[in-house]
Amino acid sequence: MRALVLAPESCTAAVQEVPTPNASTNEIIVRVHAVALNPVDALYTFNPLAPPTADPANLRVVGSDFAGVVTKLGPDVPSHVKVNDRVAGFLQGASSVNFRPGAFAEFVVVPWDLIWKIPESMSFEEASGISLCGLTAAQALFGQNRLGVTAPWYVQPEPELSIENKKESRRTLLIYGASTSVGIYTAQLLRHTKEKFRLVGVASSKHFQWLSDQPYAYDHLVDYRSDWVGEVRKLTDSGGLDLAFDCISEGKTVESISELMEPQGRLAVVRSLQGGAWKSAGKLPIQPSYGAVWEGLGKEVVYKGMHLPANAEARAFAVDFYQWLSNQGDPVLKPHAIRMMPGGLERIVDDGFQLLGSGLMTDRVGGRTEDWMRPVTAEKLVYRTD
Ligand SMILES: NC(=O)c1ccc[n+]([C@@H]2O[C@H](COP(=O)([O-])OP(=O)(O)OC[C@H]3O[C@@H](n4cnc5c(N)ncnc54)[C@H](OP(=O)(O)O)[C@@H]3O)[C@@H](O)[C@H]2O)c1
Repeated sequence: MRALVLAPESCTAAVQEVPTPNASTNEIIVRVHAVALNPVDALYTFNPLAPPTADPANLRVVGSDFAGVVTKLGPDVPSHVKVNDRVAGFLQGASSVNFRPGAFAEFVVVPWDLIWKIPESMSFEEASGISLCGLTAAQALFGQNRLGVTAPWYVQPEPELSIENKKESRRTLLIYGASTSVGIYTAQLLRHTKEKFRLVGVASSKHFQWLSDQPYAYDHLVDYRSDWVGEVRKLTDSGGLDLAFDCISEGKTVESISELMEPQGRLAVVRSLQGGAWKSAGKLPIQPSYGAVWEGLGKEVVYKGMHLPANAEARAFAVDFYQWLSNQGDPVLKPHAIRMMPGGLERIVDDGFQLLGSGLMTDRVGGRTEDWMRPVTAEKLVYRTD
């Protein structure tokens, strides 16, 4: 099959023929029809984690998010999973020092329980962008050592509140980077919970209209190019933020948000301090919690300077989340807007990865004149693979 393979010696990737995978116990083969790009795919192609290898068995296929059709079932896959099911999921590709399969290929092999069934009304292209960022949002929002909100798929007793108390008791949650893919799924997931939050978002003002509407329904929006710290502080004058998710976590954002929190507040971030995207001058008033979405795959993850052991609990959480997404009625999450990129796997490095840059939001530079090379703004870059 054709796949986009990492070329670590030249910090790039190129399409080449590789062996088509086989399904082992509890695995399925998916014919990939669409893939969505994440910043991490470009980051670890331009800054490879693993050393070059001449061993064809260890070629690293890059890429995370995919959507397609089940073509083969391995042994012991339960009977409710069927050939021709439309499914989506994510893989780790080259985003670990350890060898991991990647998604930017004609076929992928995945465990049957780490995919979700795409509702009929959703296209492969739309579905392809949900798996990684949706799970990132769910982990941050519902993780017990993260923001600790109760997930909508876990049964919970109704809070016993009088009508008068309900408004006053609403906790305030800030999403910094409300127009990011991670941010749009976080807001939607929050609106699925039984607890009613006061939701504050920081994004460009050009996005305020749609972020105010369902399914996000922000109560307050502040422009990140304004004095957003002052604006948020005014909104929380009776105390600080109860919860916050920094979906950018670059430069001074983590430090600034930390100072806006109430003393018992909880702050989740998308980038680790060790990764170097953000810094703090001293000890932060609130220590942020970081998580890597890959933990959901239940395998050990090794980055440069960081080791995350295999985490069975994180895997079980991902399985529950994907089961919840598999609702075959109306989709439970509205997909992010997509930009269909021309060409297939061959164009990903030269176009899509160029748009995402090599790590930081501030590295995303323009300079190309084709219409599809305009800056990425509140949308997912998607390629067809057939
Ligand atoms: N820890 C994990 O496991 C994990 C998982 C997924 C993603 N991530 C990380 O999370 C971050 C977000 O990823 P994503 O895919 O959701 O991003 P994305 O969708 O590509 O984000 C693009 C959006 O970010 C907005 N933006 C850029 N700089 C901003 C700033 N300083 N303040 C507020 N908004 C800003 C842009 O606004 P405009 O429209 O105004 O240009 C644009 O709408 C990335 O760093 C990614 O690597 C981490």
